[in-house]
Amino acid sequence: MSIRSKATAAVATAAAVTLFAGTAFAAAPGAPGVGDPYFPSYGNGGYDVSHYDIRLNYQPAGDKLSGTTTILAKATEDITQFNLDFRLKVKSIRVNNAVASYSQADGELVVTPRGGLRKGQDLTVVVTYDDVPSAVKDQNGFAAWEKTADGAIGIGEPEIAAWWFPSNDHPTDKATFDVSVAVPDGVEVLSNGRFLGQTRQINGWSRWNWRSTKPQATYLTFVAIGQFEIRQSTAPNGQPVVNAYSERLGENGDAAKASIERTPEVIEFLEQNVGPYAFEAQGGVVTPDLGYALENQTRPTYDTAFFRRGANTYVVAHELGHQWFGDSVSVHHWRDIWLNEGFASYMEFLWSEHVGEGTAQENADFTYDSYPADSPFWQVLPGDPGADKVFDGAVYDRGALTVHALRVAVGDAKFFEILKTWTAKKRYSDATIEEFIAHAEEISGQPLDELFNTWLFTKGKPAEAPGR
Ligand code: ARG
Ligand code: ZN
Repeated sequence: MSIRSKATAAVATAAAVTLFAGTAFAAAPGAPGVGDPYFPSYGNGGYDVSHYDIRLNYQPAGDKLSGTTTILAKATEDITQFNLDFRLKVKSIRVNNAVASYSQADGELVVTPRGGLRKGQDLTVVVTYDDVPSAVKDQNGFAAWEKTADGAIGIGEPEIAAWWFPSNDHPTDKATFDVSVAVPDGVEVLSNGRFLGQTRQINGWSRWNWRSTKPQATYLTFVAIGQFEIRQSTAPNGQPVVNAYSERLGENGDAAKASIERTPEVIEFLEQNVGPYAFEAQGGVVTPDLGYALENQTRPTYDTAFFRRGANTYVVAHELGHQWFGDSVSVHHWRDIWLNEGFASYMEFLWSEHVGEGTAQENADFTYDSYPADSPFWQVLPGDPGADKVFDGAVYDRGALTVHALRVAVGDAKFFEILKTWTAKKRYSDATIEEFIAHAEEISGQPLDELFNTWLFTKGKPAEAPGR
């Protein structure tokens, strides 16, 4: 039971009848979470965001972040107050131009506008703030924002947004984004989407402007600040490509470039297999500071360690695979993480076959054989791994085996039809595992309950490798 649940109980009694625009209406506070079973405090109720304008100043010396986020939203209920998910120290809030009161605790920013808000009403929420994000810790002493040797990275899953902008922090409320960060001269700033150029500030700082015009989840919105070599080009399909390589990649730098520079080629390959790319720009960022890779929308981030044995296009196929599975089609609840990791991992199997380094079947056999029947690996359910195991190896590897089992059961023609119609039907939206299963049954005309029960929802090693 979280502190948050107690807050829910407390505010439930505060439901009020407020006099508003001359008529009485019954309104209650917006919920402090969207009801995600793994992460009850994520997201909020009562409103829906359409756009974030994040306009910041960042001083690498001291990790000082300040600025303003303007949120365009619509009330989805009559509400007396609403929450944003945010951990930095707030200086002021206005709602529809009027100063609002607020309180902050445990990652929840509770905003009480003057008067109530009507269902369907447009909201413009302006939050100003100033803090040292790397010094801000959650209840477990964890800071998602990381100060680096030459700047910072705001990159993480499932949590990062609350360390740099106030939001409705759940993949079920996507929005478009403008991200603009001013930094001292000579520092670079990377984010999602198209680069709108640099503007000079009168104080001698330089402002970097980025824009994402397709619906984007809050956790997929990123910022990387520091010393980067930036390469701009145009993909064969006409889209802008921006790649960025930290100046601290050392001897891995060229292997990283030999991988990331192939981004448009990998996107073309994935389009042939799973349908049209949903976004307007491409790229990748390589840093020595992340420790993993993350599928930030339009521009994934990769740790340099992926390239320590030379080029690695598998991690590129994985993160770009997420652009369909995770970014365009997002999890409805975090429990649905197999829809992200199982499919992104299977894109590596397809890529392996494409580059002649082993068929998808050989990859499936190898993966199945890698884990002995008594390994704890087989005790984690990819379809419901638990909040502390959303990135367990089983979600990736057993998850990819599940996708292969589906392919073997329905045949290649139906399999690729299932993937293409799924990414089309759920484009820019979110989905549950149950919806995917129903979709696969509908397209294939085959009952698939048993297959998915075995591979996603039953502990223990299935008796046969799929397709062997
Ligand atoms: N979604 C990322 C991937 O492509 C993994 C994120 C793992 N998160 C973490 N905090 N290590 O595999
Ligand atoms: Zn992944």
